[in-house]
Amino acid sequence: MSHHIVEVEDLHYTYPDGTAGLNGMSFRILHGESVALVGANGAGKSTLLLHLNGYLSPGRGKVRIGDHPLSPKNLKIIRRTVGMVFQDPDDQLFMPTVFDDVAFGPLNLGLAEKDVEEIVQKSLEIVGVADLKKRPPYKLSGGEKRSVAIATVLAMSPDILVMDEPTASLDPRSRSRLIALLKTFHHTKIIATHDLDMAMEMCERTIVLHQGKITADGPTLKIFQDETLLAQSGLEKPLKMQGCPICNP
Ligand SMILES: Nc1ncnc2c1ncn2[C@@H]1O[C@H](COP(=O)(O)OP(=O)(O)O)[C@@H](O)[C@H]1O
Ligand SMILES: [Mg+2]
Repeated sequence: MSHHIVEVEDLHYTYPDGTAGLNGMSFRILHGESVALVGANGAGKSTLLLHLNGYLSPGRGKVRIGDHPLSPKNLKIIRRTVGMVFQDPDDQLFMPTVFDDVAFGPLNLGLAEKDVEEIVQKSLEIVGVADLKKRPPYKLSGGEKRSVAIATVLAMSPDILVMDEPTASLDPRSRSRLIALLKTFHHTKIIATHDLDMAMEMCERTIVLHQGKITADGPTLKIFQDETLLAQSGLEKPLKMQGCPICNP
């Protein structure tokens, strides 16, 4: 399943205004791995993810998705392989109704309308918002928009799922539902998140970013036990590991 491998080599990126986004990072993610990408605000998580499906192209270094190096020629196949849930759902939703937004990708692939209807229904049911089908996306709450954004990506059956802060603005029930759903997705997953409890529950491997560089890459539990590393990277232990003040006064 080499087509599910994600490889990044010496990746640098500077925004047009001169702000450094990524300062040289390399890693390899294999098929079926579930990897959390953590780091304080501004660490470079979103900038990195935007390279994985070619929304940004490297200033220096390389990105490879499976057998395909990231290049303008390969953009179509790379975007078909990597399903990306953006940090801001407003960047993902642009059609007049929720149905149209979720149908957009599958229709573009040339699927029959009847099949698309089924796919839309199923994708919305999975994230628990099938009742929003006829609503205009811009009138939804933040959490509802996020659920719909996730449905638009699921509808495309990607080989690699990339999510930027997927639990932000979700209520506890939607968050639990999303975690349960992601556990059923057995392909490669890369999830940028501040929700270290989710990372601990979902991802066996964690990559820590700080100022556009990787400061650690290894087993999630081992990384979250390293308080010095977390503090240096502007992070705190997951709540689950902080102990309960009532049980352990
Ligand atoms: N569009 C942009 N233009 C200029 N600088 C940006 C832009 N987007 C992000 N940055 C900068 O790039 C760095 C990395 O940001 P980002 O990847 O968004 O971090 P994170 O997702 O980890 O919070 C930060 O210094 C941020 O201010
Ligand atoms: Mg971000």
